[in-house]
Amino acid sequence: MMDRTSQEAEIIRLLRANGEGHVSGQTISRTLGISRTAVWKHIVSLRNAGYLIEGSPRKGYVLADRHPVPFNSVEITSALDTDLIGREIFFYESIDSTNTKAMELARSGAADGTVVVADGQCKGRGRLGRGWYSPPGVNLYTSIILRPAIPPERAQAMTLLSAVAVAETVGRFSPVRPHVKWPNDVLIASRKVAGILTEMSSETDRVNFMVVGIGVNLNMDPESSDETRRVAASIGKENGRDVERTNFACTLYSVFERWYKTSLKEGFKPVYEAWKGYFDGVGREVRIKGFTNTEGICLGIDGEGALLVRRPSGDIERIISGDVSFSTL
Ligand code: BTN
Repeated sequence: MMDRTSQEAEIIRLLRANGEGHVSGQTISRTLGISRTAVWKHIVSLRNAGYLIEGSPRKGYVLADRHPVPFNSVEITSALDTDLIGREIFFYESIDSTNTKAMELARSGAADGTVVVADGQCKGRGRLGRGWYSPPGVNLYTSIILRPAIPPERAQAMTLLSAVAVAETVGRFSPVRPHVKWPNDVLIASRKVAGILTEMSSETDRVNFMVVGIGVNLNMDPESSDETRRVAASIGKENGRDVERTNFACTLYSVFERWYKTSLKEGFKPVYEAWKGYFDGVGREVRIKGFTNTEGICLGIDGEGALLVRRPSGDIERIISGDVSFSTL
């Protein structure tokens, strides 16, 4: 039995497939295997969500085209082609932080692949205790709940996997190839377009769950960003054309699912290889601010996803967390 969002997504799909033609209540009821009363309730709920659905007693229903297309769980569900990521969606017009919500849901047992999405966040969280600027109506803020059967030492690898999935998705919407900055910022022309905040709950020997929070600047005006310390960019503004948020979110879930399944089957080697392909820091001077400050030449990453830096003394340091800045090319 489909849940409410899936049924409403199916109704929207049916109406769109018929364009300007009407779809009878009976056809909807038969296609979805639900009563005519249930169809009527869904139509009312879809209208309340902003869809212009005209109804005629003899002909049935027709969806009036409306631009911009709303951003909500019905749209995302009707465009999704995954079988794990995003199959369960919690959508909010406004929320403090999708990561906070996803951690809560995961603690109460939400399934592997469940996602939280918000139109805007009022307390978006970034790495290292920072905030994440999250104005409504323009960007993507989403958190994915994962339950991989891995030991906690592998968590860093999942973080790099997330960066690869985000970079690949950004690359599909941007004519300029994105780069990653260790561990998981995604940049276009040296300016940050996406950030990832990974949080987890684990025992000593296994991960209970992870929450991968992804913020992507799609259509916001970077000038409006209050992140004065970071040089932000947005994909739409770089291209001069807005990015459709549902399309971006569904592409991201689909790409993410492919990498997630690959890593569970083949391990993280393919992930590291792909990550290195997006990384242009090897051989460059790097400075890391963290528990201790380190400077040196970046040598790349090791088999666990840690950053390797050769210090002026010749010693090689393994960095597992911190804020990285490279000298400009
Ligand atoms: C960073 O500092 O680069 C990480 C930013 C992560 C932001 C995303 S937006 C969706 C999710 N919810 C949050 O509160 N943070 C993450």
